[in-house]
Amino acid sequence: MAQASLRPLVAGNWKMNGLKAAAAELEQIVAGAQALAGKADLMICPPATLIASFAAVARGSAVAIGAQDCHAEASGAHTGDLSAEMLADAGASAVIVGHSERRSDHNESDAAVKAKALAARRAGLTAILCIGETHAQRKNNETLAVVARQLAGSLPEGAAGSNIVIAYEPVWAIGTGLTPTPDDVAKVHAFIRQQLRERLGGEGERVRILYGGSVKPENAPQLLKLADVGGALVGGASLKANDFLGIAAVYR
Ligand code: PGA
Repeated sequence: MAQASLRPLVAGNWKMNGLKAAAAELEQIVAGAQALAGKADLMICPPATLIASFAAVARGSAVAIGAQDCHAEASGAHTGDLSAEMLADAGASAVIVGHSERRSDHNESDAAVKAKALAARRAGLTAILCIGETHAQRKNNETLAVVARQLAGSLPEGAAGSNIVIAYEPVWAIGTGLTPTPDDVAKVHAFIRQQLRERLGGEGERVRILYGGSVKPENAPQLLKLADVGGALVGGASLKANDFLGIAAVYR
């Protein structure tokens, strides 16, 4: 089923990029977002150091500010970590959990990702839950099995359209300039939708499923208009306001 009734979300994941001066890009995104008001939700997930100042710039605009990761606990002896409550307090309204770079750099398991998604809900943040196969897994025809396993292990009970967004991000497409064919994206998104329906019943229709991995203004029209693609999670191309807005312009 198409996601015609769900407002699409275009979220930018800045990863470990951005100093204070990058607020100029955000200001441009906030200005450009006006043309999309009511048609698409925009979000920028800067490094945690910029959340508070970016939230101040974006306040009252159509651009939400998100974080890139959180700890599962609300507070405690976890040097260097940030809780979902802290991110909410700084002005974030969402947090990415289970990004493949966290899964590989920090050995995050599905169970750990699920705990983070639950922490996000506890703090009133939307969790953007990332799943996706590696190149080897795709070559072995394991894509759907991997996605099913990750969803089974990391999607929390009680997930709903109001508290969770799924991002399908094939690991081999992230930062490489490679993307699956539109047919392949459609197939995986339809499969994810079916899994969500099985787990969440009718609420499974209300969950947005983003595509992520080398989304650019040039390929956005082919990838983002597919059935069950409810928007994009954008890395590299979200660092430049013109590129990010060029992707979101698909929904104008
Ligand atoms: P990319 O990253 O757009 O640079 O491929 C996507 C992501 O990691 O979310």
